Amino acid sequence: MKDPFFHIIVEEAFSDLDSIFDELDLLKDSLLSPEHTGGSKSESGEIEKKNKGLFLDGCQNYQNSKIVANTNKLLTEIINSKNWENHVFHRMFECTSWTGYLVSHYECGDYYLPHYDDGLFTLITFIFDDCENRVGGDLYFPEHDHLHKCKNNQSILFLSKEMHQVTTFESKSNRYSISTFSHFQRPNKEPLNNKSLDLPKLIYN
Ligand SMILES: [Fe+2]
Repeated sequence: MKDPFFHIIVEEAFSDLDSIFDELDLLKDSLLSPEHTGGSKSESGEIEKKNKGLFLDGCQNYQNSKIVANTNKLLTEIINSKNWENHVFHRMFECTSWTGYLVSHYECGDYYLPHYDDGLFTLITFIFDDCENRVGGDLYFPEHDHLHKCKNNQSILFLSKEMHQVTTFESKSNRYSISTFSHFQRPNKEPLNNKSLDLPKLIYN
């Protein structure tokens, strides 16, 4: 690794893994090609990924999803964790809201080229149905020359603007990931009332 960079890894991320697999099985045929999950294109306009996916929070009744419930539970556990070493990032994490719940499915030959995400933090949870015998499908951070070997039911949190990619998945089994992206939440405060203050005309004329 060239430079250390902020990331947090959570093992045994989802407590309800059997239900997650059941839901993924049901969702598998509804997943869409990259043109529909969009977002990431190279400068030349090419789509940077070959996989299938679905943003659950764009679907009706997504709040009934076990995947969403498990992810939200995990986010709460991370917020309340005592293991944060970077207190600035922890404060940032506490005032973000989460969207996406993007389910992605990789089969043999699928990949995601280097890109960064639309967000402040990215949380990805990896689900494999045959993790031990799989080849590829790992997460690589090219600016740090860091290969993260993904494990089943493991999550990684990092800053969304870190360049990252998924190495080509080269097995006949299934690799899924669930990605959420955070954005700053505007604090719920009363608007300031400065109407009585006449700003110097010299500056604002
Ligand atoms: Fe990404």
